[in-house]
Amino acid sequence: MSHQRNVPFFNYPRAYLDDRSDLLQIFEDVGNRGAFIMQKDLRDFEAALAGYTGAKHAIGVANATDGLELAWMAIGLRSGDEVICCSHTMLATAASIVTAGGRPVPVEIGEDNLIDPDAVEAAITPRTVGIMPTQLNGRTCNMDRLMDIAQKKGLFVVEDAAQALGSRFKGKHAGTFGKAAAISFFPAKVLGCLGDGGGVITNDYSIFDKVYQLHDHGRDVNGEVRGWGRNSRLDNLQAAILNHRLASYDKIIARRRAIAAMYQERLGKLEELSLPPAPDANPDHFDIYQNYELQADRRDELKEFLRSNGIGTLIQWGGKAVHQWERLGFTCHLPKVERFFERCIMLPMNMFINNEDVSYVCDKVEEFYRK
Ligand SMILES: Cc1ncc(COP(=O)(O)O)c(C=O)c1O
Repeated sequence: MSHQRNVPFFNYPRAYLDDRSDLLQIFEDVGNRGAFIMQKDLRDFEAALAGYTGAKHAIGVANATDGLELAWMAIGLRSGDEVICCSHTMLATAASIVTAGGRPVPVEIGEDNLIDPDAVEAAITPRTVGIMPTQLNGRTCNMDRLMDIAQKKGLFVVEDAAQALGSRFKGKHAGTFGKAAAISFFPAKVLGCLGDGGGVITNDYSIFDKVYQLHDHGRDVNGEVRGWGRNSRLDNLQAAILNHRLASYDKIIARRRAIAAMYQERLGKLEELSLPPAPDANPDHFDIYQNYELQADRRDELKEFLRSNGIGTLIQWGGKAVHQWERLGFTCHLPKVERFFERCIMLPMNMFINNEDVSYVCDKVEEFYRK
């Protein structure tokens, strides 16, 4: 019997406290320079983000939801245009299509619990203009088929890479396959800041130019007003924090992959569970484990058992897929996604848990299924 421990799902105070002295120095430095809006730290971070992902351009924005919307606006979505997205994603994915003027068409998941290319093909209509895969939980979709479909049908691809900075498919970074992508720096993201933050990446100069204008009152990089825009800038202070954290990002990913390997080793044998792919399961994929989302028999009982033993878990997004929010006008039925949402649960996966915590979580999961 292991002693009771407290393993929260995510420890928000530690997102500050663990590198508090570095952060205080950053506050001092940025504050003393009065460098609050669109300053060097932001430019440095944008260059570092582009460099890290291999994208030609990066723009800091207020959050990833805005970034996705601005990407669709830059592409020029028009009323009635349909964009096919996965129903296993955050509402923000679909919302960005709506707020940019289009209509989201949520579809099924495949074996990998990500958007199913067959379902995408089947959902194409004369009004379809785009596909929006979500690189969910830090795993990049198999982009070969999706890009093939997009090319054949002349569709735009915008990747929701909010959860996938550093994730790769066949060595290529999430967010660099389509026309544009957005990444989130929400505090619980693998690269998180101390508030909201996001980035848009693209290889296409015209998309960069347009997103840049849209995010800064219609002004281009030279400050010339070229059209209507808004304010969706990333704060310079947040950019300075992200710059600091990006420097050790690969170490952070390595630790998360090590935790995933430990979960795999201990829980992989339990028939009642269906785990996400192990870090070394497929050389085509390099996953960063934004989340460790598995499917479990007696999921709700497991959640309660873990809670009573001090372990925090999460059933993502209120336990509903995008198309299950009927008030938003969806009428479709997607049995695979619905089944997934009856069984899914996330175990603690972050930089604040140590090996003993992981081992304790595994002990308790094993104990639950032995009962
Ligand atoms: C898959 C997905 N898309 C979009 C978003 C939106 O990101 P943000 O909170 O930065 O707007 C999130 C954030 O949690 C996400 O997980």
